[in-house]
Amino acid sequence: MRKKIVAGNWKMNTDYNEGLTLFSEVVTLVNAEITGSQTAVVCSPFIHLQSLVEKSKTSDKVFIGAQNAHQAESGAYTGEISAKMINSIGVDYVILGHSERRQYFGETNELLAKKTDTALKNSLTPIFCIGETLQEREANTHFDVIKSQLVEGVFHLDAEAFAKIVIAYEPVWAIGTGVTASAEQAQEIHEFIRKEISAKYTQAVADEITMLYGGSCNPKNAPELFAKADIDGGLIGGASLKARDFVDILKVFN
Ligand code: PGA
Repeated sequence: MRKKIVAGNWKMNTDYNEGLTLFSEVVTLVNAEITGSQTAVVCSPFIHLQSLVEKSKTSDKVFIGAQNAHQAESGAYTGEISAKMINSIGVDYVILGHSERRQYFGETNELLAKKTDTALKNSLTPIFCIGETLQEREANTHFDVIKSQLVEGVFHLDAEAFAKIVIAYEPVWAIGTGVTASAEQAQEIHEFIRKEISAKYTQAVADEITMLYGGSCNPKNAPELFAKADIDGGLIGGASLKARDFVDILKVFN
């Protein structure tokens, strides 16, 4: 059985106290209402992480993730945070390759391949994001774009390492726009990704990879999206900033 995950991506939102309050609400609701074996991951800004890890110990279903990590082990990179530092405080996950990092910070597939290696080496589970822009979809190049993001970003991993990652399909045109991919559109891409993984590795590896959908996912549309055969959860931006909405999305797997 593939792991079902709902991950919240808080992005650059909440100051420290607001973040702690939001997280306390999430943990309280999860402990009271989540009855299945699904996993919640909260990806907060860096400065919140250590406190959230401590608080997450009161739940066996809530885990913590960072939103980025540097590709180098350590060194003269002023202002950056390494995977080793993140791991050293008990964080389990890291989002890599989010479209905002690709778009605003120039992160390329080549760089992301290095970040993935360093994250895995430091025992972090990468939530590796891929997805096409609106122009790419309109030009009908979305399958090619997604394939190259996979090939150049993560297909250098051997099967054992690859089996440790989580993939998030996030069409850029659906992120923060209120426009969601239809469940059929999302499933079509998830199925394509799983086929590519099967062709590169084995069917067994493909069958075990958790794949999340991201892009304006909310409590209303999550049931239809998560009902699709190849969608194993969500990467949630805006709706993860409201504890009630985030846990309602998680509850779809109850
Ligand atoms: P959104 O963001 O849910 O606000 O569209 C998703 C994401 O960027 O991960």
